Amino acid sequence: MSSTEAGSPLRLAVIGVGARSYIASHAVDSGSGTIVAVADPSSAARERAAEQFGAGIATFASHRDLIDARDAQGGSIVDAAFVTSPDHTHAEIAIDLLRAGIPVYVEKPLAISLDDADAILAAAAESGTRLYVGHNMRHMAVVTLMRDIIQRGEIGEVKAVWCRHFVGNGGDYYFKDWHAERAKSNGLLLQKGAHDIDIIHWLAGGYSELVTGMGGLSLYGDITDRRDNSDRTMPEWFSLDAWPPLSQTELNPVIDVEDISMVSMRLDNGVYASYQQCHYTPDYWRNYTVIGTEGRLENFGDTDGAVVRVWNTRTTYDPAGDAEYRVNGDERGHRDADRLTVDEFIRFITDGSETETSAVAARNAVATAVAATESIRDGSRPIAVPAVDEHVATLV
Ligand SMILES: NC(=O)c1ccc[n+]([C@@H]2O[C@H](COP(=O)([O-])OP(=O)(O)OC[C@H]3O[C@@H](n4cnc5c(N)ncnc54)[C@H](O)[C@@H]3O)[C@@H](O)[C@H]2O)c1
Repeated sequence: MSSTEAGSPLRLAVIGVGARSYIASHAVDSGSGTIVAVADPSSAARERAAEQFGAGIATFASHRDLIDARDAQGGSIVDAAFVTSPDHTHAEIAIDLLRAGIPVYVEKPLAISLDDADAILAAAAESGTRLYVGHNMRHMAVVTLMRDIIQRGEIGEVKAVWCRHFVGNGGDYYFKDWHAERAKSNGLLLQKGAHDIDIIHWLAGGYSELVTGMGGLSLYGDITDRRDNSDRTMPEWFSLDAWPPLSQTELNPVIDVEDISMVSMRLDNGVYASYQQCHYTPDYWRNYTVIGTEGRLENFGDTDGAVVRVWNTRTTYDPAGDAEYRVNGDERGHRDADRLTVDEFIRFITDGSETETSAVAARNAVATAVAATESIRDGSRPIAVPAVDEHVATLV
């Protein structure tokens, strides 16, 4: 970061100017950075970038050209980069940036294979460049509330975590573009589930060591109305009127990922966990329950105004629970979490401060989801999850 004077806004790049690229704007809004360059192979995306981030930004068709560009002092033209390109491109882009000494915010999932995730960690360790993975759910109010309840000891020692994920907008979000292709996402248990597998690990205080998966393509594969949507981005085709799910049209030409999936996990600290994901429910939210040695918690809703209830006396059915806590923040989605996540990234690359997110945890979410997806596709065979290289883990 030698070319920026201390205290002046960081010069930031955005690699991949699609639906998610708006996250970089939080750094501008907070006054900590300015977007000075973007890279995207799509000319339409590069044009969009000028509207989104302001005229005058430098645009490149490849992240390599952006890395090679020099400022007046002969240094890099950027101090850090957001990688918001499709999942299968994360590894190559992140590794090139890290090796060039440019700190990186990589969107989740870190990568679509374990080898790629490990290669990114190795590049960060070898280069000493800061790597941050955008697991924004660690900053979601409902998640931090559940974690606080657990850490206060209200349910005793955690023994089980179960998460049901109703992905109500699944048809629009994941079956009309690259997300629907194994070659680009691996599968939705990784693409979408990486969030929750990471949260399950965080709430449980351990990492999966053994998984069994089950699932399939049970609905969207029956829809024959297909279209290559690469000429537009997700908000353009989103409609709540697309209901019931079989009435969806213009799905991606290739759909070879599961639309329903389940995984059972045994963690290295003896906690048992499960995660279920369905992409055609009418409603869109996540429901967690965590069971401890002295109680159970469960969330009802997951945005502002939702509640988390705790049961810690014996009873039969008691919908009210023994205690109820309100979720404050994340109105209509995860904007607050995004802002907190970007703030944390900026602090991390500026002064190396501690983070709630963790690159090692992000890698372990990939490792778990990849193993679970392999299990789904191989007769639900139990699969051991490889542990991270301990030396690399100490360096990232
Ligand atoms: N943390 C979250 O809550 C969250 C939410 C949404 C998306 N995401 C993540 O953000 C990433 C992007 O998702 P999206 O929905 O914005 O996708 P998108 O398809 O809308 O946009 C991707 C953009 O990347 C560009 N691109 C493709 N290959 C590239 C390459 N090699 N180099 C540079 N740009 C390239 C595309 O042209 C497109 O403009 C994904 O990894 C996704 O998982 C995270």
